[in-house]
Amino acid sequence: MQTSQIIQAENLVKVYNGTVRAVDGVSFHVNRGEIFGFLGPNGAGKTTTVSMLSASLRPTSGKAVIDGLEVSKDPDGVKRRIGVIFQESTADGDLTGRENIEVAAGCYGMLRSEGRKRSEALLEQMQISEASERLAKTYSGGMRRRLELAVGLVHDPKILFLDEPTLGLDPQGRNGFWGFVQKLRKDEGVTVFVTTHYLDEADTMCDRLAIIDHGKIVATGSPSELKDRLGGDIVTIKTAPGAPDVTRVLQSLIGVHTVQKQDDTYRIKCANGEPFVPVAVEACTKAGAAVMGVTVKRPSLDEVFLEFTGREFREEEGMDATARAVMVQRVQDRFGGRR
Ligand SMILES: Nc1ncnc2c1ncn2[C@@H]1O[C@H](COP(=O)(O)OP(=O)(O)O)[C@@H](O)[C@H]1O
Ligand SMILES: [Mg+2]
Repeated sequence: MQTSQIIQAENLVKVYNGTVRAVDGVSFHVNRGEIFGFLGPNGAGKTTTVSMLSASLRPTSGKAVIDGLEVSKDPDGVKRRIGVIFQESTADGDLTGRENIEVAAGCYGMLRSEGRKRSEALLEQMQISEASERLAKTYSGGMRRRLELAVGLVHDPKILFLDEPTLGLDPQGRNGFWGFVQKLRKDEGVTVFVTTHYLDEADTMCDRLAIIDHGKIVATGSPSELKDRLGGDIVTIKTAPGAPDVTRVLQSLIGVHTVQKQDDTYRIKCANGEPFVPVAVEACTKAGAAVMGVTVKRPSLDEVFLEFTGREFREEEGMDATARAVMVQRVQDRFGGRR
C-alpha cells in the first residue's frame, strides 16, 4: 500500500571523523507529490542529509525510508526510485548534451535504443533540443542545470533530490529552472526534495519546509504556517532626522510585541499591522516625532529563522573544500562504482 509519506527520516545522525556532528538527530517526513524545501545556511548539514537519504552516505545512526524502502537495507532499490542532482555541476563538458543523457541511461542499464529515445524526450522537455549536439561546456549556467535535471530524470524517478540547484544562477536562470521543477511535479507527480539557502525561493517555491541549523531542525511547516507562528506583522516607521526617541511611546501601544530602533527607523512587531499604523503615526506625531514613512510587512522567512535560532540568516555563496571533496567522492561512488 502506498502511504502519503514518501520520505521518512528518523533521528538521522552523521558524525564525520568521530568529531564533527554534521547532522544531529534529524526527523521529518515528506508527502508524496510535495516540493519540500530543506532550508539552512552554509554548513547546516543539508548536503550531508541529502547524501544519507539518497543512499550515498551511511548515517552514524538513525533511519531513512524512501518510498517504503529502508535506505540502509535496500540502497539499490532506493537509487532506482530517486534522481539526485548535486550542488555543483556534474555534466561532462566534453560530451554533448545528448551524450551526457545517453551515458546516464547506460549507467542505469538501459538499452541503447531505449536510451536514445529517452534522451530525445528529455532534451525536448528541458528545452535543450536545439543545443543537443553541442558540447555541454558551451552551455549557459541555466542550460547546464536543465541538462543535469534531464540526466537525473533519465530512469524516470519518483523522487528528485536537488542539492542547492540554483546556486550561482542569475535570477532568470533560477526562475527558468524552477519553472521546470514545478512542471515536473504538476505533470508527473514527481516528489521534490530541494535544499537551498535562498530564503526567497524556499518561501515561494516550496509547499513545506524544514529549517536546519547546526545539524538540527529548528522548525517545520508550510512557509505561511512558519510565518504565522511569529504571531503578527512587522511595521517600520521612519521619523524625521533628529526627532525625539519614541521607542517607549510605541511600546506602550496596544498589540505591540517589540520595538527595535536603528537611527530614525523603528521596527515594530505587532499583532495586526494595518490598523496599528494610524494609531502609531498619531502617537509619534503627538510626541513631537514627525513620521516620514511607514511600511507594513508580513514577516519573512528571515524573521522566522531569527526567531527560531536567535541568529540572522547568513547569506553566503559558494562551497567549501570539504563539501567539494565529498561531492566528488559521491559522484564516484554513484557512477564509478556501479556493478
Ligand atoms: N567529509 C566531511 N568530513 C568532515 N566534515 C564534513 C564533511 N562533509 C561535511 N562536513 C562538515 O559537516 C557540516 C555540514 O556540512 P554540509 O552537510 O555540507 O552542510 P551544507 O550542505 O548545509 O552546507 C559542516 O560543518 C561541514 O564542514
Ligand atoms: Mg551543501
